[in-house]
Amino acid sequence: MAGNADGFYDVQQPDVQPERNLRGLFTADEDGRFWFRSIVPRYYPIPDDGPVGALLAATARHPYRPAHMHFIVAAKGYRPVTTHLFVAGDPYIESDAVFGVKDTLVREFPLVDDPARAAEVGLPNPFQAVHFDVTLNSDGS
Ligand SMILES: [Fe+2]
Repeated sequence: MAGNADGFYDVQQPDVQPERNLRGLFTADEDGRFWFRSIVPRYYPIPDDGPVGALLAATARHPYRPAHMHFIVAAKGYRPVTTHLFVAGDPYIESDAVFGVKDTLVREFPLVDDPARAAEVGLPNPFQAVHFDVTLNSDGS
């Protein structure tokens, strides 16, 4: 799940984005690999009205989250994990409003200039790509 290029989730723009926009359910292959096409997300502000806004103001903090994608990864026999993938170079990567960034979750999204690969994955050339491994722990069963 990710916000759109303007930094909004589908539920924040029900009259603009289709329901479940930029969300997906993927099944990995027998080697645990999966891939998908998406956009490179953009930073966005958390709602800063009400008590959250008061807390941010009292602590002199901005409301922005750095660009990220959410993941819930699960497999039979393993403990599920809920995590993020953050975009390296985001202007808020060092000051996430909700303190969710860990160095191990930050990835570069390098430009790929490969017309054959672009055609293979159905994207215009050049495009950006990212590799993100998720390791699950056994559930002990
Ligand atoms: Fe988010």
